[in-house]
Amino acid sequence: MLKNIILMGPPGAGKGTQAKRLVSQFNLIHISTGDMFREAIKENTSLGQMAASYINRGDLVPDEVTIGIVKERLAKKDCENGFLLDGFPRTIAQAEALKKIGEEIARPIDVVINIDCDKNELVRRISGRRVCKNCGAPYHIDTMKPKVEGVCDICGGPLYQRKDDNKEALEVRLGHYMNQTKPLLDYYKHLGLLRNFDGSIGSDILFDELSKLILGK
Ligand code: AP5
Repeated sequence: MLKNIILMGPPGAGKGTQAKRLVSQFNLIHISTGDMFREAIKENTSLGQMAASYINRGDLVPDEVTIGIVKERLAKKDCENGFLLDGFPRTIAQAEALKKIGEEIARPIDVVINIDCDKNELVRRISGRRVCKNCGAPYHIDTMKPKVEGVCDICGGPLYQRKDDNKEALEVRLGHYMNQTKPLLDYYKHLGLLRNFDGSIGSDILFDELSKLILGK
């Protein structure tokens, strides 16, 4: 089984949706830098205050900060049985740092999963997304509705719209994706680690495809 995994893709491609199901199915540690920053913002820590100023307008948090929190998290003992990185790396500097960290802690990456999706669908998804305030589960007002409006199916928490899920911030996020993150696909292709998937197919079908890859089927 593949156990040290990177999940990549543009904002709204479905990384978070798939990540939550995959980590639960395969007992992996979910490391989402976006979730880590949002948690710090919720708790109003100094990291959260700093991150909010970047995230709310759609900009990337500086590399040295992001690399630092991932390095600390990956070194924890619970990652030894496998981890799924969601939203990291996003720049060449982050990818180079991750390579070094992987060597230091003897936890190299087994596979890089890229979920792609066209821009119109990304805009539709992001503008209709609602997220659980407690557990972070993602929903969509038209296509992935909760059973009770405004309430999370999983934990009963209230659903809200992320501050960076607006037209202006999304344009900035897509720009960073095209200029800084997309070049990483070539970086990982050269290393023979990249696997591409179509994120516009149904969430269940995509989950089955990703599961087969992880199981080596
Ligand atoms: P992050 O939280 O990583 O956000 P993102 O990459 O922009 O991705 P999203 O969470 O918006 O989308 P997703 O692909 O997870 O889609 P989802 O599954 O929710 O980062 C946020 C910010 O933090 C960044 O902008 C940056 O500021 C900062 N940051 C984070 N990491 C950083 C790093 N490494 N370096 C620097 N800064 C960093 O799905 C979207 C919607 O579509 C949902 O409504 C869902 O229900 C629906 N949906 C999902 N799949 C399907 C499907 N197959 N069919 C139909 N609908 C679907």
